[in-house]
Amino acid sequence: MKYSRIIGTGSYLPPRVWTNDDLRAIMDTSDEWIQQRTGIKERRWVDQDSTTSTSDLALQAARAALTSASLSRDDLDMIIVATLSPDHEFPGAACFLQAKLDVPGIAALDVRQQCTGFIYSLSIADQFIKTGMYKNILVVGAEVHSKGLDKTTAGRDVAVLFGDGAGAVVMTGSDDASKKAPRIISTHLHADGRFAKELWIKAPGSGDAAAWLTHEKLDAGEQFPKMNGKAVFVNAVKRMPEVISEALAANGLTVADVDLFVFHQANLRINEMVAKQLGAPDDKVFSTIERFGNTTAATIPIGLDEAVKAGKLKPGMLVASAAFGSGFTWGSALIRW
Ligand SMILES: CC(C)(COP(=O)(O)OP(=O)(O)OC[C@H]1O[C@@H](n2cnc3c(N)ncnc32)[C@H](O)[C@@H]1OP(=O)(O)O)[C@@H](O)C(=O)NCCC(=O)NCCS
Repeated sequence: MKYSRIIGTGSYLPPRVWTNDDLRAIMDTSDEWIQQRTGIKERRWVDQDSTTSTSDLALQAARAALTSASLSRDDLDMIIVATLSPDHEFPGAACFLQAKLDVPGIAALDVRQQCTGFIYSLSIADQFIKTGMYKNILVVGAEVHSKGLDKTTAGRDVAVLFGDGAGAVVMTGSDDASKKAPRIISTHLHADGRFAKELWIKAPGSGDAAAWLTHEKLDAGEQFPKMNGKAVFVNAVKRMPEVISEALAANGLTVADVDLFVFHQANLRINEMVAKQLGAPDDKVFSTIERFGNTTAATIPIGLDEAVKAGKLKPGMLVASAAFGSGFTWGSALIRW
């Protein structure tokens, strides 16, 4: 049987920084409120007047990941893009990225699993590689949230949380069966659609009697994300430790075996509670929320790349990753780096 392993990482954050005080200039909020509740100090947003799209950010991250993997784009067999903010309603962002990377013909797939999108995508790539169907797969998480947020006081509970960015990994097949060989050790995926409307965007969509998108829907702000923040918080702090424990138990490992935790970054308070429940020491938990906010599907691959660049993630380490988000969806990945 083949194994899959990550051989390169890359990320791209748009250059324009929006501090909490910058947001205060456009909505009724404060640096104190945002930092106390979420730990976020600043986030990156693309130039709001530009045509910069999700696949543009994905392209930069993908190129960096290919360089770090010492692989040419022509070596790729498949592209997976996890995003909830695609360039257009259809086709998927993976098709736009494929055209920009100039690799026509290979498989291109979008995964719409929100904050858990990267873990789902990693798992899908892992299955394709393990079966021997594909050798090299580019997995990208990318989001341009800023163009889809209600950036007025009415939308402040959501708008302050989210940032734009992209992260990518290149995965390849390996025959090395030795116990400590680099590989995706396991992935565990979950969802509970009964909570779908706790964090969602209602329109455009086919779920109403009215047309896909109407002026009335726009006037009602149905195109903006709506969130029951407390329900998300309560479920995230329950499911993330649970799914990490599930992964460790399935592999006969314990929290003490883990060298680095790279969690999804929705809220520093959530991750502090998750780490506390697991008994994970602070110095083993990698954090990017202060600088980038919640970049949804991009968060974990950005975190992996930042951890590599910071010298915190080195070959041979055991990495535990987990995410929770809209759907609700949640999942974990154990990776021998
Ligand atoms: C969003 C979140 C930070 C809100 O924190 P909270 O302590 O639950 O705050 P509340 O919703 O009770 O709001 C408290 C007050 O702050 C106000 N408020 C909301 N957003 C605000 C903002 N950006 N700035 C200032 N005040 C704000 C609310 O209007 C409310 O005012 P009121 O008491 O006068 O009605 C928190 O619920 C959370 O982190 N949830 C999880 C979010 C998440 O992770 N989402 C992504 C999932 S992947």
